Amino acid sequence: MNAWMKNGVFYQIYPTSFYDSNGDGIGDLKGITEKLDYVKSLGVDGIWFNPFYPSPFMDGGYDVADYCAVHEMFGTMADFEEMLAKCKALGIRVIIDLVIGHTSDKHPWFVQSTKDEKNKYSDWYVWTDNNFNKFGDKSIHGLYPRDGGYVINYYACQPALNFGFNTPPRAPDPNNAYDLGEYWKMHYTDERLKPLREEILNIMRFWLDKGVDGFRVDMANSLVKGCLYNSDKDEDIEGVRWLWNLLIGTIKKEYPDVGFMAEWVYPSNAVGKCGFDLDYLAHDRQEYNELLRNEKGTNILPAFEKGHTYFSDDGQGDIENFLKYTMRLHDDVEGKGYFSVPSGYHDIVRVAEKKDNEQMKVMFAFLLTYKHVPFIYYGDEIGMTHKFGINKDGGFIRTGCRTPMQWTNGKNRGFSETDGELYLPVNDVAGQSVETQEEKEDSLLNTVRKLVKLKKENEAFNADADLEIVSCENGGYPLVYRRLNSESSFLIAINPSAKPVSVALKGEVLLSQNCETENGEAKLLGKSFIIVKE
Ligand code: GLC
Ligand code: CA
Repeated sequence: MNAWMKNGVFYQIYPTSFYDSNGDGIGDLKGITEKLDYVKSLGVDGIWFNPFYPSPFMDGGYDVADYCAVHEMFGTMADFEEMLAKCKALGIRVIIDLVIGHTSDKHPWFVQSTKDEKNKYSDWYVWTDNNFNKFGDKSIHGLYPRDGGYVINYYACQPALNFGFNTPPRAPDPNNAYDLGEYWKMHYTDERLKPLREEILNIMRFWLDKGVDGFRVDMANSLVKGCLYNSDKDEDIEGVRWLWNLLIGTIKKEYPDVGFMAEWVYPSNAVGKCGFDLDYLAHDRQEYNELLRNEKGTNILPAFEKGHTYFSDDGQGDIENFLKYTMRLHDDVEGKGYFSVPSGYHDIVRVAEKKDNEQMKVMFAFLLTYKHVPFIYYGDEIGMTHKFGINKDGGFIRTGCRTPMQWTNGKNRGFSETDGELYLPVNDVAGQSVETQEEKEDSLLNTVRKLVKLKKENEAFNADADLEIVSCENGGYPLVYRRLNSESSFLIAINPSAKPVSVALKGEVLLSQNCETENGEAKLLGKSFIIVKE
């Protein structure tokens, strides 16, 4: 179990879009280095960087063509090292994306693997054993001389690396002379899979030796085929569990302080059983449909609610299922690791969409005091909204949450000096910029800073300190809970709805919005929160 992860507040940076240092319209590593003081000013402990590796960018860099190098649009390895050194100097942990479920189809390993003659890389990807033998709708056929189809993990350009299958290969049916069995489905313990695993370990060592602190593992649940990532039955995750305990176990022996965060979206398995320190709850992809189909407010964890989001001000949300589910998760991960409810990330509609800054502050008051490990997606701290109708790098609707960071109110929002085109367009929403919010004492940005500071100063807000739900009638408003350890106790009440409510409380008010307190009672007006030290 990893200590720096449990106490941390983290920030996520999408490298094309943070800051362009050389005026070519593309964000880069030097640009990030220049803005690290800003990141530090938020009070965060670490940064998760989306992929910056050489890649055709058919899927935002999640189609890696070289694991141990830097894409030239972002700079050089020396730039990375400089950025890392500055992070270290500022006490910022560095988490990089490890995308090992698949590579780009342009990766030299795959190019070798497509050849008909057997070579070192033939078994590194999952291939069926003849071109007309398909793997459901997950294999691609007829593009290469090799007789077989390759199994994909995501897009067609992302062939799945071969970590085997959950069950042994199927033998031919003795009663069917035409059935040749499925020997191409190697069992996850098959010796032929070992060289790839060794290579993966070496990739991790390469970055850890440079000084990286941890990995966010892309689609970590997908590596062994035939597993069911969210099943509670041991046999359904046997292979992927074996694999991750082996990989993480090996690396942790050599680098005891390393942190592993999964993209598994089922912490009970990722953390509870597979050796990860952290997993996050995806805001469910249904969210896109929800937003597009009707005009409801959206975006925080609709997957755990009954149709409405709790943080919209219509007061129709229901957080009961979320509370119940996370209570269960706390039990499932206890003593092993933690989970995160990120403010957002690069795959979903911006959380600030259809929310004003007051609503965002209520949401952050929740995210920075609840029992989990907070991740702030760049720009959420200033309420950046989604830009619909743009598409680049295979992002489609996701592209809209990857627009340049809005530093100023000037040209290109201070992201780039260029007079030419930006790699991704800025989202011109008036007023949402660091420049504007820096000045105002109670801006969203400064409120996020205050909340982070409060959390960092009090261990009762750590992921392993206790949580008590005090009241939340029928999953409605307000939500009142307590965070505590043996030393101190805090009461938090949040009311994202527009309707005022009252809460009994006493103690010292540390931070609040839209609240009136009198004689042991707080009146929470619309879009309000209050944090009290008891
Ligand atoms: C993860 C990434 C996403 C990517 C996919 C395929 O879900 O977050 O951006 O497209 O994996 O690698
Ligand atoms: Ca640049």
